[in-house]
Amino acid sequence: MKFTPFDLEYTQSIWEQKVEFNLTESGVHPITLQELISDDAGLLDRLLRLEINYPHVNGIPPLRENIAALYEGAGTENVLVTVGAVEANHIIMQTLLEDGDELATLTPTYKQVWGIAANSNHAVKPFRLDPDKAWALDIEDLHRQVNEKTKIIALVNPNNPTGHILTSEEMNEIVAAADKVGAWILADEVYRGAERTQEQETPSFFGLYDKVLAVGSMSKAYGLPGLRVGWVVGPANTIEDLWRRHEYTAITAGMISNHLAAHALSEPVRPRLRTRARDYIKAGYPILKEWMDSQDGLFSHTPPQASAVTFIKYDLDINSTALMEKLCTEASVFVGAGDSFGMDKHIRIAFGQNKEVLDEAFSRIERTLDSLR
Ligand SMILES: Cc1ncc(COP(=O)(O)O)c(C=O)c1O
Repeated sequence: MKFTPFDLEYTQSIWEQKVEFNLTESGVHPITLQELISDDAGLLDRLLRLEINYPHVNGIPPLRENIAALYEGAGTENVLVTVGAVEANHIIMQTLLEDGDELATLTPTYKQVWGIAANSNHAVKPFRLDPDKAWALDIEDLHRQVNEKTKIIALVNPNNPTGHILTSEEMNEIVAAADKVGAWILADEVYRGAERTQEQETPSFFGLYDKVLAVGSMSKAYGLPGLRVGWVVGPANTIEDLWRRHEYTAITAGMISNHLAAHALSEPVRPRLRTRARDYIKAGYPILKEWMDSQDGLFSHTPPQASAVTFIKYDLDINSTALMEKLCTEASVFVGAGDSFGMDKHIRIAFGQNKEVLDEAFSRIERTLDSLR
């Protein structure tokens, strides 16, 4: 069977270390180890004396406790720590999908679970966020695409690439659609905590319905993508099933990563990291917006409610992957191609960087665009 690569991650593998300006990172500028551990005088010494053994295969207890505390009604038995959210998504798909099952997925989206389903011969039924209605959920489309064969309804909330946060009505519609056919909800919530337009943290799907697997990560709202720590929260017996898959794929996340993630999610470190991420997001977006506004109507977009990215429609006669490659080669600036998210004529620009970086990257993009106008 034909294998389809994971387009976004594939292009990132190719370009992110080659360009001078990488504007594809959907989390904020990563934190240093020094800054992360600055509020615990003894932590460095404890890390230096830590044996680099295999940690608990399902995640060290303090980390699972701190994760469980982020979900109303969850205990440590509901948590499995994974190697990033990608491993969590992967083992959920492996565990739940059986021959003939279909995946219904929100689009535009981070196309990991989409690609996994397609590569294992499962039908994929996308339902959309409506670009003409500020990325509101198209409820009719949702109900059209979910049927008796649907095993999983997958969504990313807050959404990547649009930054849309589902309203409680939209969440209830998704739960109702799942409940009607007994489907699971795979809620990838890695941008939870990275809200821009509201103080309140995006509510989790966990607890709204009994067949929810909520996925989280240290990579986005906490600025720690290199830890490679993510997790799944769900019903205890399903967490056990996922754990059996985790033993085959990764065995466990790293020992040092487990300890640093436990520290990052402890009080008062977690609020400090969230504030840091939100400060980047709140400062970066107006810089991007001001620049887009100065481009004579070339761009249109709906302001993101969360995350450090914006999904932007452009009015140019060029395909989004071709545009992305042109910007990499001519301007040494890497942006996400709309194609990678299932929607051409768009680019995704990340703005969770310092002002000097954004200013220089935007003026370089502008020079390349001038040759296309
Ligand atoms: C929606 C979504 N899920 C998962 C991931 C990967 O997260 P992690 O670094 O935790 O594996 C990303 C990264 O961009 C993402 O956007």
